[in-house]
Parts: sequence; structure tokens; C-alpha cells
Amino acid sequence: MNWKIPLFEAYWEEDDVESVANVIRRGRYWTTGPEIEQLEKEIANYVSKKYALSFNSGTSALHAVLLAHDLTNGEVIVPSFTFISTANSVVLAGAKPVFAEIENESYGLDVEDVKEKITSKTRAILPVHYGGAPCKNIKALKEIANDYNLLLIEDAAESLGSRIKNEMVGTFGHSGMFSFCQNKVITSGEGGIIVSDSGEIYQKLKLVRSHGRVENENDYFSTTKELDYIQAGYNYRMSSITAALALSQLKKIDKIIKLRRERAKYFNKILSKIKGIKIPMELQDHYHVYQMYTIQLENNKIREKLRQSLTEAGIMTKVYFNPVHLKTFYRENFNYKQGDLPKTEKISGKVLTLPLYPKLNNKEMDYIIEKIKNCLW
Ligand SMILES: Cc1ncc(COP(=O)(O)O)c(C=O)c1O
Repeated sequence: MNWKIPLFEAYWEEDDVESVANVIRRGRYWTTGPEIEQLEKEIANYVSKKYALSFNSGTSALHAVLLAHDLTNGEVIVPSFTFISTANSVVLAGAKPVFAEIENESYGLDVEDVKEKITSKTRAILPVHYGGAPCKNIKALKEIANDYNLLLIEDAAESLGSRIKNEMVGTFGHSGMFSFCQNKVITSGEGGIIVSDSGEIYQKLKLVRSHGRVENENDYFSTTKELDYIQAGYNYRMSSITAALALSQLKKIDKIIKLRRERAKYFNKILSKIKGIKIPMELQDHYHVYQMYTIQLENNKIREKLRQSLTEAGIMTKVYFNPVHLKTFYRENFNYKQGDLPKTEKISGKVLTLPLYPKLNNKEMDYIIEKIKNCLW
């Protein structure tokens, strides 16, 4: 459909084009070029972690980090209110995803339910920072992980730049992941990155990322030496072209976040006055970067009515997220059914994500607001 207002649009400037063109013009090292390490250095620096390693998607990054942490068996607690990749990565690594409920403020994992779901087989907790908001209970989840000797791996795909006081999301746990897919805070089309303070995990990630190949001093593409392969690995590498774009986007991250926050503020001011709309929450000391702008309606019927009328007005909206535990794969292979996570199912039935992106202008926001008012009043 040709939407009058799409749900998201990438923010770009001419220097983004130029940085990609420069790698192309070079005619060499479209793979493993200097942009890769530069991006990794700058992201590690941006979130204050020792190591960062880039991947060709957030999903491959998540899969790799679970393998690097040896999560090839046992149980991993995940939210069901997330993109399917959070749970799929656990399955692909060889462990079992166990879905836990979320709280109704930041849509992060619910601490009490996480505790309930811990068994002798639990090996890790995998919280999600939803839509640019820090997971409300990330510190409590860290304590639980410590108390029960579990790993804490953060899916911060949607929340680069989001923080609690000065602590960036993605840095609370043993490792964290960010995505650069086209609807994320900054984007390179596709891409992902893992951050960690562990040198051991960093080395393991390198093996998973590139065929299990030992490349300490010699990059495969620039050496004539025969290299050794010490495990089976994937090709999960980001291209230099992608890294160049991610680097150029990273230069603008403060500006992009500012534009996102300004637009959220504009929506908040008006939508908060409309009865029956719950606007996204920004908790005290939490810095929301609004990768998404998700409102909550009073019930599913109203949500569906609003969704329909915005669609008719050419405004794209989407339900982020329908519960993952109710998708066919999880019903059929892990025996989940409707009613297993009542809180998640209820919240999921009422949320609606509205368009929000840096270039969304006041006229467009006014049009969205007018259509919302027309429908709900
Ligand atoms: C919460 C969450 N986890 C994981 C991913 C996977 O990232 P990617 O699309 O880069 O593979 C996404 C993004 O789509 C996401 O929103």
C-alpha cells in the first residue's frame, strides 16, 4: 500500500551517501575494510564497553552471542512481547525459550514472573528494551541473575542511545545487542552489534562470526597464509559498505534522538489529553529514544477501530508486538496456548504503534492527531 504517512522512514543526509560511495569507489575491501573496526571502536566507546563486534543483522548477532555464552542447552527466560528473533535465537542456539510476562510501564520483563519461571534448568535471562525505552526493572533483573548465577544478555535491538541516568541500555548484562535494521534508531539497512566487557566472549564471537577461523594477526582476505579453522562457524560478517553507513549514521545519533524526542513530545502533549489513550511512559531517570511511539487504548475493540480508521486515512500503524508464544512454531513445538501469559496477551491486544521518525513534520503529526480525535471522540 502507498501510505500517506509510513510507520517509519530512515533519516539520511548526503554524507551517508558519500561514505558508502567512498567504499565502493575504493574497489577493495568491501569486506573486512577498516570501517568495520572503526564502527566497533566507536560503538564500544559510545556505550562505554570494552568490546564491540559487528554482525550482518541483529538476529545473527543475538544467535552468535548466545553461542558464545555457550547457551546451547537449558532454558532462557524471554518476553513474549518482542520481535520473534529474541525467542528464535534461543531456539537456534539449542536452548529452550521460556516466556515470562511484562510490566505495563516500559513493557519490560516482569520481575515477579521471571522469578516464578526460574527452574533448575534456567541458564539465562534475556530482557528486551522495548521501542527505545529502558526496561524498567533491568537493575532488579541483574540482581536476580546474580542471585541465581544466571547470565543476563540484553536485547537492546531497538534502543541504542537509551539510558538510565548515565548507564546505557545494553551494558547492564554480560553482553548486549543492538540492531541497525531500517526501522531502528540509526540504520545501515541491515546490521547488528554485540557489546561486552569480556575478552573471552569477544574472541568466541569472532569465531562464530567467521567460519570458526583463527585470524589473530592475519585477515583472511589480505594474507596468503593458510589459516586454521577450530570450530564450525557462520558467515555473519557485516560488509564494509554497511559499516561505512552505520558509522556515518552514528555521527548523527544525538541529532536523530533529539528529533525523535521532539516528535514524541509533540504527540504526548496532545494525545495525553485524549481520554482512553495511554501515551508511552518515560520513567524517572530513564532516557527514552522513541524508536517507536506506542500508545495503549482502553480495549481491543477500540484499538481495532482506531487501527482501521487510521489505515483508511492512509496512516500506517502496527501492533508491536503480538505475543510470540502464540505463533504457530511456539504453539506446536513448545505447547503454548492462549491464556498462558494473560498479562502479555491483554497488553498486546490494546497497543498500537504510530508513525514516528525524524523527518515526520508537524503537518503530518497534526493530521494523525486529527484522525485519532475523529475516531475516538
Ligand atoms: C526486539 C528485537 N530483537 C531482535 C531484533 C532483530 O534484529 P534484526 O532485524 O536486525 O535482525 C529486532 C529487530 O527487528 C527487535 O526489534
